[in-house]
This record gives sequence, C-alpha cells and structure tokens, in this order.
Amino acid sequence: MTVHIGAAPGEIAETVLMPGDPYRAKWAAETFLEDAKLVNEVRGMLGFTGTWKGNKVTIHGSGMGMPSLSIYVNELIKDYGAKTLIRIGSCGGMQQAVKVRDIIIAMTASTVSTPSRGIFRELNFAPSADWSLLRAAVRAAEGKGATPHVGGIYSSDVFYDERPDLNEQMTRHGILGVEMEAAELYTLAARYGCRALAVLTVSDHLLTGEALPSEDRERTFGDMVEIALEAAFAES
Ligand code: HPA
Repeated sequence: MTVHIGAAPGEIAETVLMPGDPYRAKWAAETFLEDAKLVNEVRGMLGFTGTWKGNKVTIHGSGMGMPSLSIYVNELIKDYGAKTLIRIGSCGGMQQAVKVRDIIIAMTASTVSTPSRGIFRELNFAPSADWSLLRAAVRAAEGKGATPHVGGIYSSDVFYDERPDLNEQMTRHGILGVEMEAAELYTLAARYGCRALAVLTVSDHLLTGEALPSEDRERTFGDMVEIALEAAFAES
C-alpha cells in the first residue's frame, strides 16, 4: 500500500496502461483482460490487474493533468516496480491534417511546465517516448488499418486556455495535438529507466471546433487499448 494506491505488493503488473478516467480503466479491464481484479480504489481512482494473452497487465487511472498523473506514476514505478507505462487518452487536434478520430502516437511532449520542472533549473528537458514502444505501437495501429500521426504533442496545464497565442505557436511548430499528461509521464520514465508512450485519439479540434460524439469515444478508446497492449508485448 502507498499513500494513493491500496494494492498489496505484487498486485500491480510491470506493464501499466493509464487512461485519465478511472471508469475507462474499469471498462478496458473488463473488456480486454482476463481475470481482471480491482486492486485500487483509493479516492475513486480505480486500478485493475488481469492478464492479456497470458501477460500480466494493470490498467490504472491517472486522473486529469500532470500533478495527478505524477502521483500515480511515481508510486507505480518506485513502490510497485512498474516498468512499461502507456497513457491511452484523448487530445485536441492542432493541425488541419489531423482529423477528429485520428490516432496520434506522441514522439515528444512539449510543455510549459511539469511537476518535475524544478529539478532542471534553466534546462529545457525534452520528454520523449520510448523508441521500441513507439515503433511497436505504429505497427500495431497500421495492422488495424489506421494511419497514425507520429510526432510532437503539447502537454498543457490547462484545458480552458486563456493563451490562444501559445496554441498558435504550437500549431506553427508542427505540434499535432494538446493533452495534459504525457510530458510528466515521459519525464518520470526517463528518470527511473522505464519505457513510456502516449497513444491518443483526437476527440476535439482546436482549429475546426469539431468534437467527437460520445458513442464514437468508446470505439476509438477500445482501439487505443488494443494498440497499447500489442505494443507493450511486441517482440522487439
Ligand atoms: N486541451 C487539453 N486537453 C485535452 C483537449 C484539449 O483541447 N482535448 C482532450 N484533452
């Protein structure tokens, strides 16, 4: 048990999939894992452990935003020995070529700040995905007939952003989409020698104002779970 995770030692797998929403963790565990067992419900942040094709997997919510994700990822890595952590979530599209429903696989995550920012002083650390996971996720997505966008994303601290000029600069510099968690996940994985990746579906679009209807969200979310599982256990 840790401050925020009630699982007993050994109840968390080395591979952890992390949706923001705890109910998405429940749905994914019940839909894709065998023998899924609830291992955490502290503060309503649900985590489940089961198996996928014989491999032990935990699916655990991260909450919204980097401060929340940072708490869970620190404890999952340092106290439970998680080694491969894949965020599965949604993002806002920031390029015309990126459409609602498309999948983005985040190679890098730019950010104004993360909970880890303080240790870098004047350095701008470049949070980046694990290459083997990235490559395997691209192959898994292509295997499903999808053409994922692979490139940089922006991890923001705010959903309701009062700085449209900053979003404009992100778009101008080729950033594919905006979400609120990946940069801290990548930074913590780098610090502790773990593998991390973010697989995202474009749920809304900053340039067009389009948004994904809620029925579509479940199907695209299921695709991301499968891509993440295939990537986590791919032969390298
Ligand atoms: N901004 C930040 N995070 C998000 C967005 C967005 O537009 N869409 C989904 N996650």
